[in-house]
Parts: sequence; structure tokens; C-alpha cells
Amino acid sequence: MRLNALITINYFMNKILVTGSNGQLGETFRYISEKFPKYNFHFLGLPEFDLTDKNELKTYFKKTPINYIINTAAHTKVDQAEEDPEVVKKSNINILKNLCELSYEYAFKLIHISSDYVFDGTATKPYKTNDTVNPIGVYAKSKAAGEKTILNAKVDAWIVRTSWLFSPFGHNFVKSIFQLIKNKKEINVVADQIGAPTYSIDLARFILNAISQKPNFKGSEVYHFTNNGSTTWFDFACAIKNEINADCIIKPITTRDYPTIAERPKYSVLSCEKTKKEFNLNINSWELALKDCLKILNH
Ligand SMILES: NC(=O)c1ccc[n+]([C@@H]2O[C@H](COP(=O)([O-])OP(=O)(O)OC[C@H]3O[C@@H](n4cnc5c(N)ncnc54)[C@H](OP(=O)(O)O)[C@@H]3O)[C@@H](O)[C@H]2O)c1
Repeated sequence: MRLNALITINYFMNKILVTGSNGQLGETFRYISEKFPKYNFHFLGLPEFDLTDKNELKTYFKKTPINYIINTAAHTKVDQAEEDPEVVKKSNINILKNLCELSYEYAFKLIHISSDYVFDGTATKPYKTNDTVNPIGVYAKSKAAGEKTILNAKVDAWIVRTSWLFSPFGHNFVKSIFQLIKNKKEINVVADQIGAPTYSIDLARFILNAISQKPNFKGSEVYHFTNNGSTTWFDFACAIKNEINADCIIKPITTRDYPTIAERPKYSVLSCEKTKKEFNLNINSWELALKDCLKILNH
């Protein structure tokens, strides 16, 4: 292909639709979108737009040509999911069936966000992208089934698994602990689950830079993206406390002391080596990312 033809293709590959736009990661994309002026961003989310409605999606794509969909939409209430598997299936699997089917007709590439919960948490070293998945709850099983839907459809797609998302947006651990330690004298936090916190701003930036690096990617790939390092919820909470100089006492407890409806993986650190290598990436530590997040929350 001639160089100017390639440049023309890349120039017009600039329309990005972010779904789940009113959630934590969706809002993050909105927040950083102005730093990526070369892209023309569109946002869709509940309650205005239900992605499970295939006809509505078709009507949308007829009017709005899109080159990439970044699907952050999901049912993410892990405990509630145990009581309503049908609703979870709609958002975490059926949406993907719709998007995969429509991607042939409307020629877009899909970037889908998945989760560390596809693993059972019995590992003792970071999970690689090709390690066998073994999800343990309704939410986790639906995320694994969503991945399978994409891989079986053989569309152009990246599945980006992440873990322990935090940011100034939506609902997340950092925002909850930030409020609790400002308002309580003492709190208990689970100290026997290990994972890698991920700043949603770093994740969103990675995805947009990755699209710039490989705009014409073909086939499907699984990537992992988390901040560097790992920790427990207890140590994560202590790091938040230290950053804001709070007096609240944080006590470590076990998962058994704090039973939840859905079981969580004990260890869910994801290896990001493949991602770092393929995209020539340096990823911030979660501690540095936390400082940035708290700076924004403190304003
Ligand atoms: N948060 C984490 O720690 C974490 C960890 C690993 C992976 N992930 C994955 O990362 C992605 C983003 O997570 P997040 O923290 O941004 O979740 P979130 O805040 O719950 O955002 C998800 C958004 O999707 C929307 N949604 C659900 N069903 C929809 C539908 N049928 N049509 C349109 N929108 C729909 C939700 O709307 P409602 O709120 O109205 O339902 C919500 O606004 C998800 O795929 C999640 O599985 C998250």
C-alpha cells in the first residue's frame, strides 16, 4: 500500500466510542479525552443507552461511524451478582455478543475491559495472559464468558484485564477509605487478599496510546494492565492514611472475619510483562499513582 494511502487510513481511524461512560472507567476516559485531541470521542452509557438493545445499537452505528469501541460497560456489583445471574449475563456477556456481531457489519475494532477475577486466586506468582482461567463467582464467571465470546467470534479485539481499579471517579476502594478514615476513629480492613491496585487514569492513557501505536491491529489478543507492585487491602488502606496524615486506627482482619456473599480470589496479581514488551511501556507504581489520585481528591 502506498505511504499516502496508509496515512489517509490512519488519519480517519480516529472515532472512538466509550461505552459504560457513566461508570468509573468511562468517566476517566471523559476526563482524559481532551489530552488526546486527535481522537473524536463518543460516549454511551446507562441510563440513556442500554447496550443490550441490539436494534438501538444498529441505529446508532448507522448514524455514527466508529473505528474503535472501548467497552467499559459491565455489571460490576460482585455480591449483588450472586443473586441476579440473568441481569449479570445481559451486561457482561450479551453486550459482547451484540458488539462482536455488529463489528463485522460496521467494521470497528473492540477493546474490552476484563478482570483479574477470571482467575481463582490460588497462584503464588503473577498470572500470565495465557494461564488457564477458573472463575469462582457469578460476576467472575460472566467476565470469563465475555472473554470467550470475543475470542470465539474471531473479531479484531483486545481484551485488557485489570484489577483493583481506583480513581477520583465513581465508586472505588480509595474513595471509600478516604471518607472512612476522615470520619471514623477505627476501621477494620482485610489483610489476607493480595492484588495490584490500578489507577484508572493510567489504564485509560495506556489504552489510548496503545491504539495510537497499533491502529490497524488484527485478530484478538489478551493483555494485562495494572500499576506496578502488589499489596493487600489493609496495606493499601494504610498507604492512603499515611498520605493524608489521618489519625484513624486501621486494624488488619482476615477474609473469614469479613464474609462476603461472593468469594474473592486470595491472590490476583496479573503479570504485565507481555503488555510492557509489546508497547514498550514503563508503568507507574501503585504508590505513585495513589499520590496523584489523592491530590485530585483533596482539591
Ligand atoms: N472496578 C474494579 O476494581 C475492576 C477490576 C477489574 C476489572 N474491572 C472491569 O473494568 C470495567 C470498568 O469498571 P468500572 O469500575 O468502571 O465499573 P462501573 O463503575 O460499575 O461502570 C460500569 C458501567 O457500565 C454500565 N452498564 C452496565 N450495564 C450496561 C448496559 N446494559 N448498557 C450500558 N451501560 C451499562 C453501568 O451502569 P449502572 O451502574 O447503571 O449499572 C456503569 O455505569 C468493567 O468491565 C469491570 O468488569 C473493574
